[in-house]
Amino acid sequence: MEILRIVGGNRLQGDIEISGSKNAALPQFAATLLSQEKSIISNVPNLSDVKFMAEILSELGAAVTQIDYDTWEIDPANIKHIAPYQLVRKMRASVCLLGPLVGRLRKAEIPMPGGCVIGQRPIDLHIRALECLGANVKLDRGIVKVDGKKLKGGQIFLGGRHGSTVTGTSNAIMAAVLAPGITRIESSACEPEIVDLCNMLTNMNAKIYGIGSHILEIHGVKELNGCCHEVIPDRIEAATYAIAAAMTGGEVTLKNSCYQHLGSFLNLMQECGVKIELNDENQLKVSCNQLDLKPFEIITLPYPGFPTDLQAQTSALACVSKGISILTERVYPSRFMHVPELMRMGANIAMEGSSCIVKGENQLTGAPVMASDLRASAALILAGLAAKGETWVQRIYHLDRGYESFETKLQSVGASVERIAESKLPKSYFSN
Ligand code: EPZ
Repeated sequence: MEILRIVGGNRLQGDIEISGSKNAALPQFAATLLSQEKSIISNVPNLSDVKFMAEILSELGAAVTQIDYDTWEIDPANIKHIAPYQLVRKMRASVCLLGPLVGRLRKAEIPMPGGCVIGQRPIDLHIRALECLGANVKLDRGIVKVDGKKLKGGQIFLGGRHGSTVTGTSNAIMAAVLAPGITRIESSACEPEIVDLCNMLTNMNAKIYGIGSHILEIHGVKELNGCCHEVIPDRIEAATYAIAAAMTGGEVTLKNSCYQHLGSFLNLMQECGVKIELNDENQLKVSCNQLDLKPFEIITLPYPGFPTDLQAQTSALACVSKGISILTERVYPSRFMHVPELMRMGANIAMEGSSCIVKGENQLTGAPVMASDLRASAALILAGLAAKGETWVQRIYHLDRGYESFETKLQSVGASVERIAESKLPKSYFSN
């Protein structure tokens, strides 16, 4: 086990390279199974979740090779339809294998993905999509078994209680691209990661219309060819570092970011009084005087609304904004595991249903805190950067799932943060 030790108070200054998007790369790895030909995916982030997905594809029979630091070759000529429980249960995103396996092989057996701390993670909309395409889906001893012998184009409505579903939309699209006939998906998710998947599938000869909108029309084709595809930048990573700059009163340029994917977030930054400039290489320069941070209100919604994946990090920002901020979760109403840990650092937060009310008045003080999930880990580190004294973040394996070289990138702009093996921790750590 490792922990991150942060000493707060440094103003972050300099450039940070943004990596490829985790939530774009994972479904794209799965999408390569739709063709019998090799595909090459570049700008892939170096993350444990990507390695998990590569392992699962190998278990399915694909030949998976990392041919460069951020580039992978996947040869899915000989694949089977049964995914391994031991690997799938470790990563919810493996549910994205349902669509391509049903599309290519007309059958799939995938263990039901587990829940997680951010909330109930049902797949009823994924199943609805497959059934609308003529597949027969049953749950047998925890395994989702799909018979897609009669797969054909159909009408799918993907709206759920919390809006649309991102990976459910990926599955619907990937099952439909090889289904004979025309498929119409209404209330489709339109996150940039979905657009990137559609662009990759179009490069593979899929016929998808309405890309980027909430209504997609897909004309099934007989087969797809392999492709070379570059993953879009990670908008959540970029915004996380923008918040780090804001919370430390620093000035950071985000390189390889894509400001077009950050609309609602950039709007929030302006509301808080953070200065965002776009330089001539499409790089975002984020700067602010920490004393000027203003309070704000956000409600998380499906894209283009404010991303739920930024709610935890933004809660940390609210802790150092002068005044009362309100953050409401509409996507995962119980996604607040970071709140008790922020309160250990002196944050003044009250919970009201699926809203958290933050009084940004106290100076945060460093403390030992426990990460519970990927974005909560980032939130606690951001709070540590702004806190007085030392913060020790435990269970940072959560962080490594979705942020490439997090502490190295922070160190490069002046943060005092280091990764320490638990066996090397000073006695003082345990006496807290
Ligand atoms: C994707 O998860 C992302 N993961 C999540 O990012 C992100 O938080 C989420 O979309 C929302 O933007 C990947 O892309 C790998 P959903 P996904 O299906 O697709 C409900 C991160 O931190 N729902 O869009 O699993 C669901 O309970 C991760 O990078 C149903 O009711 O999320 C939730 O309330 C965390 N039935 C809402 O919809 C379903 O069949 C959105 O879920 C599916 C979902």
